[in-house]
Amino acid sequence: MRVLLASDHAGWELKQLMATLARELGHDVVDLGTHGREPVDYPDPAHDLAIRLLAGEGERGVLVCGTGIGVSMAANRHVGVRAALCHDAFTAQAARRHNDANVLCLGGRTTGPGVAMQILELFLTTPFEGGRHARRVASIEPKGETS
Ligand code: RB5
Repeated sequence: MRVLLASDHAGWELKQLMATLARELGHDVVDLGTHGREPVDYPDPAHDLAIRLLAGEGERGVLVCGTGIGVSMAANRHVGVRAALCHDAFTAQAARRHNDANVLCLGGRTTGPGVAMQILELFLTTPFEGGRHARRVASIEPKGETS
């Protein structure tokens, strides 16, 4: 798969680790930055990755900020993005099996490297179950709402 990765400064270190692991797992990795500890407003990398994912530049995305909360909020403003903030193996598997998540969000200040590696591997390998979950996923997008 082609995997897009992006982070703010607080997620930079974990994003680097996630990029290395994704490559080791045989994926084609596109690192959209940031590339250091210089402060970056978390919505910027989140919107950039979401737009590129929806344009077909990748099949999955990984976003990292301090908590994973800000990037998930921003990414989920894009119709078609299903960004899941995961904290452990259970939430990573559920995000794929039940929610068909296409973007994984992680917190660089909340999730340690070992758990994050386990989460990423599950996010990239666990299939969507479909069936009743497909109906629910299709209902996620709001209908008839104007912003
Ligand atoms: C940056 O200090 C921090 O607010 C950001 O990385 C993130 O945690 C926001 O949700």
